Order: sequence, then structure tokens, then C-alpha cells
Amino acid sequence: MANHKTRLALFCSGTGSNFRAIFHALEKKRLNAEIVLCLSNRSQCGAMEFARENNIETVHLSEKQFDSFEEFAGAMVESLRERQIDVVLLAGYMRKVPLAVVAAFPERILNIHPALLPKFGGAGMYGTHVHAAVIAAGEAESGATVHFVNEEYDKGRILLQRKVPVLHADTPESLAARVLDCEHALYPDALEKMLEEQSR
Ligand code: GRF
Repeated sequence: MANHKTRLALFCSGTGSNFRAIFHALEKKRLNAEIVLCLSNRSQCGAMEFARENNIETVHLSEKQFDSFEEFAGAMVESLRERQIDVVLLAGYMRKVPLAVVAAFPERILNIHPALLPKFGGAGMYGTHVHAAVIAAGEAESGATVHFVNEEYDKGRILLQRKVPVLHADTPESLAARVLDCEHALYPDALEKMLEEQSR
């Protein structure tokens, strides 16, 4: 339906700077999408606080609340289905998305990774570890990647990437800051590209 606003769920665990970037971009870009849900494995985090301040529904969902992983996964799928979620954006979400959720939303889950995948991805490549590895490898550039989430960590189809320089004086922290700025511009552009792809 042409006038259907794409209903977004954002999964977060931390500061929520990517959440904020997408929220503000939706306000400005007038993308035909709206953030309906903020889901987190943590009851208190920057993203959940920002969502509450902006009257966006929040759901705290963690494995610890369930007797089995399968029940947790089922509850996550149900949380999305009962809100008619169309697209899930992982924005600083520090848990693996259960296979049942990936299967229920094929080519409908995006993640942002703070490096130029397929390099510097996979297990252990998160936070400043990624940037330390890029510096240690002597890379001249790094950047951010938005990719579709499939059953393998950081391996789904790449939707959009953007590069930043690595400077000689860079520390993992200074590179992380430059990459994070890049992410905040990249994620909304990637979402726009995905919505365009879908509308064709
Ligand atoms: C970002 O570096 C992002 O690439 C990674 O999580 C980090 C924190 O994101 N996925 P945020 O500030 O919580 O949005």
C-alpha cells in the first residue's frame, strides 16, 4: 500500500546515539517510516531513556526472563508481530538475534557495524576492539557498514558503506569517534536506500 508507513523496531543496548540519529533523520527526511518500538536487553540504557522521552514504546526483553532460549526467541518474534513491525534496525544491540527472528524477518533486519565489512567483523569485533585492530593492521581507512542480518554474525548482504581516514595519531578512541559520526549519517541513508529498494 503506497501510503503505508514502514513500521520500525530498533534494538539497542547502549547509549543510543544511532537511535537518536535515525529518530532525527526521520523527522527531517520525511521518510515514509516511523519508529514504533525500542527493544533492549537492558531495562535502563540511553536508548530506552530517549525512547521513553519521545513517547516511543519500549520493551525490555532478555534471555534471563525465560526458562529457555526458544521461549525468549518466541517472545521476541511475538513482540514484533503484535506491533506489525516491518523492519528491525539493530542500533548498538549487543546480543545475537535469535535464528527464529531472522527467519521471521528475512531481508528485513539491518545492523550497523563500525568497520568496512567483510574486514574486521565477526566474533570479538565490537567496541574499541574493532578500532584497535584496524590501527594495529596499519589500515589507511576505516568506516561503517550497514548490512542485512542473516544467520551468520556480520555476514549478511551489505546495503551501504562509507569510509573515513585513519590518521597516524589515531587512538582506538579517536577513530571510534570519527566512525560513530560516519554511522550517524550512514544509517538513515541506508534505511532510505532499503525503502527505495522495497518500493520498486
Ligand atoms: C556503535 O559503534 C555501533 O556501530 C555499534 O554499537 C555502537 C554504539 O552504538 N553497533 P549507539 O551509540 O548505542 O547507537
